[in-house]
Amino acid sequence: MEAQCHRLEGKTAVVTGASRGIGLAVAQRLAAEGARVCITARGGEQLQRALASLPEGTAVALAGHADDASHRSQVLDAVALQFGGLDILVNNAGINPVFGPLATAELDAARKIFEVNILATLAWTQAALAHPGLDFRKRRGSVINLSSVSAEVPAAGLGLYGISKAAVSHLTRTLAVELAPDIRVNAVAPAVVKTNFARALYEGREEHVAASYPLRRLGTPDDVAAAVAFLVSADAGWVTGQVLTLDGGLLNAGGLA
Ligand SMILES: NC(=O)c1ccc[n+]([C@@H]2O[C@H](COP(=O)([O-])OP(=O)(O)OC[C@H]3O[C@@H](n4cnc5c(N)ncnc54)[C@H](OP(=O)(O)O)[C@@H]3O)[C@@H](O)[C@H]2O)c1
Repeated sequence: MEAQCHRLEGKTAVVTGASRGIGLAVAQRLAAEGARVCITARGGEQLQRALASLPEGTAVALAGHADDASHRSQVLDAVALQFGGLDILVNNAGINPVFGPLATAELDAARKIFEVNILATLAWTQAALAHPGLDFRKRRGSVINLSSVSAEVPAAGLGLYGISKAAVSHLTRTLAVELAPDIRVNAVAPAVVKTNFARALYEGREEHVAASYPLRRLGTPDDVAAAVAFLVSADAGWVTGQVLTLDGGLLNAGGLA
């Protein structure tokens, strides 16, 4: 990815779930536009490889669970110490470990999905706001949450995930109202983006799946990263509380999530 400009020079960012896929592309894009970035994920080895792909000396990586309060504190303390403040929080870590109808959904699975996708998103935002060494409000910070087209359109078998992402969209709009004028809060809501996470939805039949998208292709992590870079930049200085659909036209064409 070639960054076209340096909109984020002097900014600092945390991107959760950034050892691969969308999170890594976002971290790479923010760094390419001039930001110093802290990336997180559970798996240390892949995270270290991701760190090595970022400009040397400008990024840090810390392994842990996004839904673990002590990991959040450790990350934010490190950002305060090494970067001196926080401007951008990208709540990207998200899971969908189960597939099946809501009628028989395991409630423990539901709790885990809601914990990681919804509550951790809120908790990272709360922790960033409360951290005395980050000056998140004073620096007019920006939060980006990862929603999904599943938040808008019910998809059989993906109910728990869709419910969690609908909550993320609503959380985004509510926080935007509550945290203005200091902090802008927006979300991106992609359709199928080619990552490990979505592989089962297109592998072996990508052309067929892409045919229902007016733009005739699936999304890439860079498509999402470009939108995130815009939303956190001063170019989007009057944008808050928006959930930006990134779907190659799918929803308007009546396609399914
Ligand atoms: N791909 C799509 O089609 C699509 C569409 C709409 C929305 N989204 C959303 O976009 C976000 C990223 O998805 P992706 O497709 O890039 O997924 P991915 O390729 O599976 O990457 C997920 C990243 O998050 C990390 N992660 C997973 N669970 C975590 C946890 N509990 N705590 C910390 N890190 C965790 C993973 O590393 P470890 O496994 O090492 O922790 C990895 O770095 C998610 O919120 C997803 O819901 C994706």
